[in-house]
Amino acid sequence: MMVREWDPRTASSAEIASLLATLNAVLAADLPQDPPWRETSLREYLAEVMPGERRISWIAQAEPTTPGDPGAVLGQVHVLLLGDIGVIEVLVHPSARRTGLGRDLVLRAARRVYQEGFRSIGVEVVGDTPAIGFYESLGFNREYVETRSVLDLTSVDWAELAEMATGIGAGYQLEFFPGGPPDDLIEAYARAKAEVRDVDDGELRPSSYDPERLRDSLDTLHRRGMKPYIVLARHEQSGEVAGLTEVVVPAQHPTRADQYDTIVAQDHRGYGIDRAIKARMLLELRSAEPELIEVQTWNAQANEAMLKVNAELGYRPDRDWCEYSVDVAELVHRLDPPR
Ligand SMILES: CC(C)(COP(=O)(O)OP(=O)(O)OC[C@H]1O[C@@H](n2cnc3c(N)ncnc32)[C@H](O)[C@@H]1OP(=O)(O)O)[C@@H](O)C(=O)NCCC(=O)NCCS
Repeated sequence: MMVREWDPRTASSAEIASLLATLNAVLAADLPQDPPWRETSLREYLAEVMPGERRISWIAQAEPTTPGDPGAVLGQVHVLLLGDIGVIEVLVHPSARRTGLGRDLVLRAARRVYQEGFRSIGVEVVGDTPAIGFYESLGFNREYVETRSVLDLTSVDWAELAEMATGIGAGYQLEFFPGGPPDDLIEAYARAKAEVRDVDDGELRPSSYDPERLRDSLDTLHRRGMKPYIVLARHEQSGEVAGLTEVVVPAQHPTRADQYDTIVAQDHRGYGIDRAIKARMLLELRSAEPELIEVQTWNAQANEAMLKVNAELGYRPDRDWCEYSVDVAELVHRLDPPR
């Protein structure tokens, strides 16, 4: 096995295809209900980042078996450097596990994060998979737990959903925007996000709250092959964005979409906006994305109001999704003691 730094932008198509095969073997082993990924825009997904961020990757490649064979990609790690932390993701093919490869890959990434002067490493770890024992053995600490829930669209009562979508207090109007909010709404949209960011605590998914950053994040999504859809609730009298919900359909797994933020501004809570905008979104996606059969969402266990609405829509709790972190200096010194 050879581990080396790897740039998805210049990688051969054979390497991208081999990495995809490993990713799908990992999913089949650890998350068998998740749809396999496709190669569509996979290179872009791995390469594109927000302005100001950097992603650095390494792969573990098997020895070539025949001349000209590039060698299967059996492991990968990448670290996204943002703010003062590095967020890592590690994958090891099920056939290559428990040989120390995962640990070796984390060490490569950790050394770099350390050299670059970042203080901590964060990672999202899926409950009930080997990754929990792995990160705990490396001294990572659990910071935060969310629940992933999945909605099966084949079990949805569409008539009931249509009713939910219209069951909203008078004075609000719902609007659907495939591709993201139009430019003249970016400011109001960012304001709604910023307000809730001040009020609500603990968010796992990065959220963009100033107009510039929001534009950048929409642009980055598009470049990574991920199509955003937005439903807004507008307060007719003030024109304010009273609520919004975002779903992203990734080209890499277009049968399962990701629910991103759902926000209802303080002054507009209690009018059924949460339920209505999510129901409207599902109705729109049904025609906009004919391949779609599931939507997944992540919620803090403490967010009872949102969990209740999601249960009404038919979401079923699936897995814990845990955020772990570790002090980089400690990790590097533990894994790589000075000789
Ligand atoms: C987590 C993962 C990277 C570990 O890779 P690996 O190469 O098997 O890890 P290592 O061999 O370096 O293991 C190092 C230590 O971690 C711990 N560990 C690893 N797997 C473990 C498991 N299944 N149970 C308990 N502890 C485990 C052990 O302490 C192990 O040391 P040991 O083998 O000497 O006991 C691998 O299982 C993986 O790719 N999982 C999927 C990760 C992922 O992100 N999936 C996303 C979609 S599900």
